[in-house]
Amino acid sequence: MERYYVTTPIYYVNDEPHLGHLYTTVAADVLARHARMSGKEVFFLTGVDEHGQKVEQAAAARGIAPIELADAVVERYRSLWPRFSISNDDFIRTTEGRHKRAVTEMWKRLDAAGAIYKGFYEDWYCVPCETYWTGTQLKEAGAWEGKTCPDCGRAVEQVREESYFFRLSDYQDRLLDHIRAHPEFIGPESRRNEVLRFVEGGLRDLSISRTTFSWGIPVPGDPEHVIYVWIDALTNYLTAAGFPGEMPHWPANLHLIGKDILRFHAVYWPCMLMAAGLPLPERVFAHGWWTVEGEKMSKSRGNALKPDELLEQYEADVLRYFLLREVPFGQDGDFSFAALKARYNTELANDVGNLLNRSLSMLHKYRDGVLAAPADEEEGDRALVADVEGMQRDVEAALARQAFHEALERINAVVRHGNRYVEENAPWTLAREGRDARLDTVLYHLVETLRLVALQLAPFMPVKCAAMLAQIMNAEVDVAALSLREHGGWGLLAAGHACARPAPVFPRME
Ligand code: MSP
Repeated sequence: MERYYVTTPIYYVNDEPHLGHLYTTVAADVLARHARMSGKEVFFLTGVDEHGQKVEQAAAARGIAPIELADAVVERYRSLWPRFSISNDDFIRTTEGRHKRAVTEMWKRLDAAGAIYKGFYEDWYCVPCETYWTGTQLKEAGAWEGKTCPDCGRAVEQVREESYFFRLSDYQDRLLDHIRAHPEFIGPESRRNEVLRFVEGGLRDLSISRTTFSWGIPVPGDPEHVIYVWIDALTNYLTAAGFPGEMPHWPANLHLIGKDILRFHAVYWPCMLMAAGLPLPERVFAHGWWTVEGEKMSKSRGNALKPDELLEQYEADVLRYFLLREVPFGQDGDFSFAALKARYNTELANDVGNLLNRSLSMLHKYRDGVLAAPADEEEGDRALVADVEGMQRDVEAALARQAFHEALERINAVVRHGNRYVEENAPWTLAREGRDARLDTVLYHLVETLRLVALQLAPFMPVKCAAMLAQIMNAEVDVAALSLREHGGWGLLAAGHACARPAPVFPRME
């Protein structure tokens, strides 16, 4: 069976879950659900990143041990995801024993390959970003005078300490070759170019241990040093796959991340894997950032949207839909309640909801809810069927490129087609004129279109689609068990099948 391994980043425990975390996790969930429906054996991983100076400091500020902080925050994530129908197969914590073993083994392999040496580290460090900057980088960014972080603008501190280094520079050419030979390795295209330019500019060896704090995994044989949090964190993708044991799921098919952590995933991570003699992930895709009502989301502004608070007002599926529909995946976007309402009312209430409601209402009004076999198809019927079949292919292709917005737009096009089809065929006139065969054909085409639309929407809105399918199939439908191969063919609804009475699935938002 074909495998599909997809990951989200593991989220820091010094922060609370917010819209950005939800975004990546929902996107990965849609791909995981779609891959399962396509018959693949899916492994979908998410989790939390617990080590590092930031966490140590956040815990100290609250007067608790780092592990206490981690234990509390991890529950916030764990309890949140099911409320958004997130179907992850594993949830990793970097404080778990399996992860410590994997990271320790990773270090040993890098060391055995001659990729690690001890030296002195003299640089500028941004604590909140956990990023090191050279003096040159600060000058280039115009941040030298104020000694501020080129990314976040906060103060950087100078450090000189003994440190282990990873020979990143040794892998520059191999990495360039790999990126050039595998155009699909980094997406979207603009990010790929960005990484190419960065690597072409020259890679500097990477400091991969710290002695100034202790909340981390110790360097094997030199416990004064803790392993740099990114070496620790990136290895999670291997840990969950079984490293250093058998890894049936590795290499991952896709690491979904935000654009801010692209360098770690598309430069450091592949070089580490090359050094350790392990295969590289197939693809890394970096999505854009959300602002909220036009403003940057941040802790200090206090405007970070909390997913659990959003649930007090909106259904999870509606949020899932909006996040993936509103912004082309890969670009930045703005979250606004007005835009959410507009999308919902236009595309879900007016288009999908209306088509479902009017189709099932007419089926009940004219045929007591029972479908009859379609008679001879006319041109317009064939066009609808062709459009539905085209949708199935196009959604598949769009999701293979992580183009969620295109997939949803394509499904919506079929829904609009369905509503046009109602107008063009005017079933009320067919009923009045007693054109029974024609009326049966039109009603059949409508319900079958709706069934296949619901099937395509199921990875995006599992709860809403279960409700749609419950009415169409007149039975409870387990969306997790849906199969595109088994249920995706046109014409599977049998003559004589009775649909349930319609009940609004997408009532208008006022
Ligand atoms: N712990 C690291 C990841 C290690 S992966 C081996 C980390 N964690 S994080 O919690 O800070 O952020 C995780 C993700 O949230 C990133 O992919 C980041 O891009 C995303 N987002 C944070 N703010 C965001 C927005 N405002 N909009 C969209 N995504 C954002 O980084």
